[in-house]
Order: sequence, then C-alpha cells, then structure tokens
Amino acid sequence: RPLIDPIPPMPALYASLGMSIIAFLATVYLIPRLGPVFIAADLKGKDLLKSYNDPIPESMGLVCAAVYILLLMLFIPFAFSSSIMKRASGTDISEGINVVDFPHHQLSVYLSSLLSLLTATMLGFLDDVFDIRWRHKLPIPIIASVPLLMVYYAERGNTHVVVPLPLRGILGTLLNLGPLYYVYMSLLSTFATNSINILAGINGSEVSQALIIALSVIFNDLLYLPWPIDFRIPVYLLGNKAEVEFGGVWSAGMSYGSRELVERHLFSLYFMMPLVAVCVAFMYHNWYPARAFPGDTLCYVTGMAFAVVGIHSHFSKTLLLFFIPQIFNFLLSCPQLFGVVPCPRHRVPRFDVNANLLYPSKIIFEKPPSQLTTYVLRIFSTFGLTELTFHATSGIILEATNLTILNFFLVRLGPMNEKRLVQVLMCSQVAGSALAFVVRYGLAGLVYDG
Ligand code: UD1
Ligand code: MG
Repeated sequence: RPLIDPIPPMPALYASLGMSIIAFLATVYLIPRLGPVFIAADLKGKDLLKSYNDPIPESMGLVCAAVYILLLMLFIPFAFSSSIMKRASGTDISEGINVVDFPHHQLSVYLSSLLSLLTATMLGFLDDVFDIRWRHKLPIPIIASVPLLMVYYAERGNTHVVVPLPLRGILGTLLNLGPLYYVYMSLLSTFATNSINILAGINGSEVSQALIIALSVIFNDLLYLPWPIDFRIPVYLLGNKAEVEFGGVWSAGMSYGSRELVERHLFSLYFMMPLVAVCVAFMYHNWYPARAFPGDTLCYVTGMAFAVVGIHSHFSKTLLLFFIPQIFNFLLSCPQLFGVVPCPRHRVPRFDVNANLLYPSKIIFEKPPSQLTTYVLRIFSTFGLTELTFHATSGIILEATNLTILNFFLVRLGPMNEKRLVQVLMCSQVAGSALAFVVRYGLAGLVYDG
C-alpha cells in the first residue's frame, strides 16, 4: 500500500473549477459561431414546434463534447499533480525505494473514462448523421462501456450488493452478483444515454436534464469531501450511521478506506464540473426559442459521463435515483419502443400555431388495434397515463396520446406553451433529485442497518 498522503488534493479541485470556467466560455462563444458551419454541412433540423421554417443547426452537442473532452485531457496532469510534485521533489523515493507509487490504477480509470466518452461522442454523431434506428443503437453504449468494466474488474471493483433487511433471512447480508453486476453496469450506460435521448423534442429538454442530473451528482459528491465542519447532521439525526464513516478533516491518520472514498468523489467532481459548465453554456443557446439543437451527440456524451462516474465512483444506485423522470418516461414508452403500440418517428407534442400552445400528440389507429394493444392502452389510461378516444358505438380505440412524459404532463396539466412545458420537466427533475436524496440518506436507514 502506498503511504498515506497528508495533503488533500485540493489544488486539483481548484484547477478543475478553472477548467470549467474555460469550458463555459469556450462553449458559449463557439456555439453561435459554428452554427452556420454546421448548417453548411447539412447538420440542421426544423424546429417542429414553431411556425417558422428556419433551419436550426443540429448536433451542436458535438461542440460541447469536443470542449468537454479536450479540457478533461488537458486536466490529466492536474489530477495527478500531487504525484508529479512528489516525484519532482524526490520525496517519492526513500533509501532507493519507491515509497509513493504512481497511482496507475487511477490513471487507467481516468483514461478508460475518456475512451468511453469519445466512443459515445462518435456514436452519437454517427446517429445524428445516419439516423440509426433506436433498436440498433441500444447495444452501442453497451460496447462502449467495455473499457470501463475491464478497469473496474482490474481494480477489483465490488460486485456485491447489500441485501435489504427483510430479505436477509433468505439471501444473507451481502450478495455477490458476480458477472451479473457487470451486465447491470453495462445496461446502466445504455440506459443513461438512451433515456435522455427519448425524453426530447422540446427546446431545452435534453440539456436541462443533463444539467440537473450533473448538479445532483456534484451535490452528492460534496457530501463526501473532508470539510472542516461536519454539516451532515441531518444524516446523523436520521440515524443513518452507514454514511458517517467519512468526514472530519483530511489527515495523515485518515483510514485508507476514507481516503479512497474522498478520491472517488473527487474523480466524479472532475468529470461533472466541466459537464455542468458546457451544459449551462449550451442551454443558453438551446433555450426557447432555440438557436441550436443538441442532437443525439449531447444525449450520448452526457449519458455516458453519468455512467462513467456512477461506475467508477461506485454510486451507480444513487445515480439511478437521479434518473426518476427518465425511468418513468422509459417505462411509459415501453409499449411503443417494443412495438406493442405503433411508434411514429416523432412523438413530440402537437403544436397549435394559433393558440401558441402544445397539446398531447396522438397515435391514430387506421384499423382497429389488436387485443394486446387495446389491453395495454386501457391499463395505461386507467392510471391516467394516456388519453383514449373511442368509437361511439363499437368502443374500439380510435386514438391514443403518445406514451411520453411530455404528453403525460399535457394530458394531466392541460395544454401549455413550450417554455412552460420545459419548466415543468425541469421541476420534475429537481423534485426527483430531492426525492433521491431522501431515499438515499433518509429511508436507506430503514431498509439497511447503519
Ligand atoms: C427522439 C424520440 C422522438 C422525438 C425526438 C425529438 C423516441 C423513441 N424518440 O428521437 O419521439 O420526436 O427524439 O428530439 O422517443 N427537435 C425539435 N425541437 C427540439 C429538439 C428537437 O423540434 O427542441 C426536432 C428537430 O426537428 C430535430 C429533431 O427533433 O431535428 C431531432 O430528432 P432526433 O434526435 O434525431 O430524434 P431521435 O433521438 O431519433
Ligand atoms: Mg435525439
């Protein structure tokens, strides 16, 4: 084991903050300037929910991804600055023996993360250019996660899950999922990327989801940093002692486990802070009325960034809690994604030019739907998830609203304009994250012993 380093790696954190500011400025500057270049390269789309036909530059998430990944590369020496400094000062060698090993495992974690992000960018961009069908693009992020999983394996990553109290009689306290855990992690990367992509179609929707999830991850990471004062009192009061293994100040006496925990969350911060920066910058141009579209590139790269930190910083279950609206949207979409209910190319809400309002868009059945389709739609409508129109005499379903969370909001809350709808979506994302923290740090104490 390398000697414990008594100096907290705070300078690297400040460097990351500085890089994030650069990322913000570069993105906010480049997007409008590169828009015409993208249009000239035929990377453009029509805003489906506007009366005008001006081409809007599409897949501008490529600019965000480029700025993000290049800055993450530039940041590598900073992330390892304490090791570099030790080697430079010669304090890593004592009596001819290397006492402070270079953290090669951390470097491979970092590099494999970059590899996954690059693959996600490439595949997202290919999707923008060639419009890959969603069935074909499902396995893509699974393959892109292989480097991550290999590094996870190499560093003897945990494959155990803690069994909730009621099930311990049957399963024991810890359950080793072994290879299944790797299957779960690779599915996480395909879920994270695609779930943002299918909750799309109104100005600001994709990037605002990414932004709020990234901020939630950052907030969670901050809980694990060694602060001079312990502000985790609510966690103590809730009796969830399992979370209180860290904290206090960074010291030479800090246990290896605590130090590792802090380092993992620092790693997550290094990836999330510049992501927030590019998202805020992009959102400025993508906000209603949008002057730039994210394309699938942004959805893929942000989703992969979340999968990367969730896996390498070992909080994939907490991460999933930040995806509550996406999980809801995915489950709601399943009948359309798996062909039980017809799925049109676009499921975005319907725009009424005169009223300037969005209404739920509908699937119109030209011939009577099958028994299975009718059955599924009836169940969904019982729960208020879709609105059906029936034939007056035969009772056959004629129309159903598309099964997306955006249409669901319009069905439940009534028609509204595009800006209001994206605000509703953002509120649901924030509420989901708030709930996630309650479940993670409050209720977990009821299900798991602290
Ligand atoms: C996904 C959705 C699809 C939705 C589309 C909108 C599924 C299975 N697929 O498809 O239902 O219609 O995203 O992005 O749920 N656009 C706007 N306003 C925006 C953003 C996009 O009008 O704020 C339109 C533009 O015409 C743009 C197009 O959507 O060119 C991009 O669609 P694309 O990302 O290619 O769709 P998918 O991801 O395949
Ligand atoms: Mg898309």
